[in-house]
Amino acid sequence: MNVTVFSFSPKNETSITYQSVLYLQKVFAEDCFDIRLVGGKCECSDDDGAALEKGDLIMLITSLFHFSVPHQMMMFLDDLYEKFGDIMKKKTFVLYSTSGKIMDITMQGYVENFLDNHGIGYERPLSQFDVSILSDNGRKEIIRWFKFIKERVSGSDGKFKDDKCRAVVFDVSDGDDPRVSAAAEKAEKLLAEKGASVSRVNIRDYKILGCTACYSCYTNCVCCLNKADDWARCFEDVMKDTDIIFYVGRLENGLIGHRHKAWLDRQVQFGRHPYYREKIFDFLVDTEGTSANDMNMLKIHTAAMNGFGGDVTCCIGDVDEVEDHIRTAVLIYNNEMIHSEDFYGVGVDLKFQRLAVEIQNLTPADYEYYKAAGAYKPMEINPNIVPVNSPEDAVRVKKGRLIPYRAVIMDAEGSVPDVSVRVRNNGPMPQMEYVKPKPKKLSLFGKKKNDRLSSQVQQNH
Ligand SMILES: Cc1cc2nc3c(=O)[nH]c(=O)nc-3n(C[C@H](O)[C@H](O)[C@H](O)COP(=O)(O)O)c2cc1C
Repeated sequence: MNVTVFSFSPKNETSITYQSVLYLQKVFAEDCFDIRLVGGKCECSDDDGAALEKGDLIMLITSLFHFSVPHQMMMFLDDLYEKFGDIMKKKTFVLYSTSGKIMDITMQGYVENFLDNHGIGYERPLSQFDVSILSDNGRKEIIRWFKFIKERVSGSDGKFKDDKCRAVVFDVSDGDDPRVSAAAEKAEKLLAEKGASVSRVNIRDYKILGCTACYSCYTNCVCCLNKADDWARCFEDVMKDTDIIFYVGRLENGLIGHRHKAWLDRQVQFGRHPYYREKIFDFLVDTEGTSANDMNMLKIHTAAMNGFGGDVTCCIGDVDEVEDHIRTAVLIYNNEMIHSEDFYGVGVDLKFQRLAVEIQNLTPADYEYYKAAGAYKPMEINPNIVPVNSPEDAVRVKKGRLIPYRAVIMDAEGSVPDVSVRVRNNGPMPQMEYVKPKPKKLSLFGKKKNDRLSSQVQQNH
């Protein structure tokens, strides 16, 4: 495949984002990468136009500048469209971005809006931390994503790679809605045709009470309402042993319906359970009566919720779009993609984990899972960092920062490694039964004399 890359970081060859693409180029040796370092440029050239023409996939790569793209990139893209708009409309674009810490989603919004407004096709973006490809997980993530993008671009229409895939079509609409049920039926049928075992869950079949913010879950590990309604049963029916979940419903002012929201609010009891990381989520939304703003809001919400917010713009009345979502789900499953490691994906999980640690409320299963994932390891300080006092210093530091990236690229094999081990349903279901805590014996007079003595003895030792 011919991949034309436009790299927009003003740091050009010293850009860290660019190193990720050099890594991809090394791994995907069978593909032809034409990398154009256009960082800092506000206008495109005829050579850029020729490269555009040649590419089967056009990859835009950049680092995050104040929560969006660098200004030169905005101008460059406008110029590219003005000069080569007709060619751009025939191509598929994709965005890969890195940031020092957080929030590429606003940049993704800018690029998607630019492409959408000009009627140009694009695929699911990937955002990573700038250090991502230095880790095994980060490298796997970019490889899986790029394999997925290649298959999307080549129009792959395969089946689920094995017969293990279990999908749930979860009707989350607030009332009986013929358009929603028709879409749910369609999704169910298409998923089964692709080889998944599918079940349909209807949120209206369960009594689900709203969270009352009593915070009993923070002290007792479970929600005290679980005994009073069907929430736990519903959660289990949707999540247990499930690989793919299709939420089907309507939007209310850019947000999911109130039943779905109640179901979600109650999940605070897990402090964001690792189960999320193993699932593929998608939304089939009835866009009748919704605005572009509603859809953008949903994208932001879903991205914040699970890091897979790319596939929400589906008009339920449109068979082609439902089919396209199913095809995407097949490719995500077959390529073993898991939730993005960016801020809005696992990043938010990490926030919840920290919260859970702070409040000392992890179930043993949560704790073991997060520990194995390295959540409690403190960040290591990069010993290469020294103060920058002049432009010459800056060049030295920029080059210095590249050393570990160069090592990773040098090490990369020229063939796509097998990254097919999916973390799938191998953790126990979260604890959902209320277990009355043992009452603590409190003494009105503080520690007993003997206790004080023994702690003093320990201190002296
Ligand atoms: C002007 C400017 C604004 C930036 N804004 C953000 C930001 O909003 N969020 C963030 O996480 N990083 C921000 N960064 C940091 C870069 O995204 C980060 O250092 C990135 O890794 C640089 O990648 P590069 O070497 O490919 O340019 C900013 C950097 C600059 C120079």
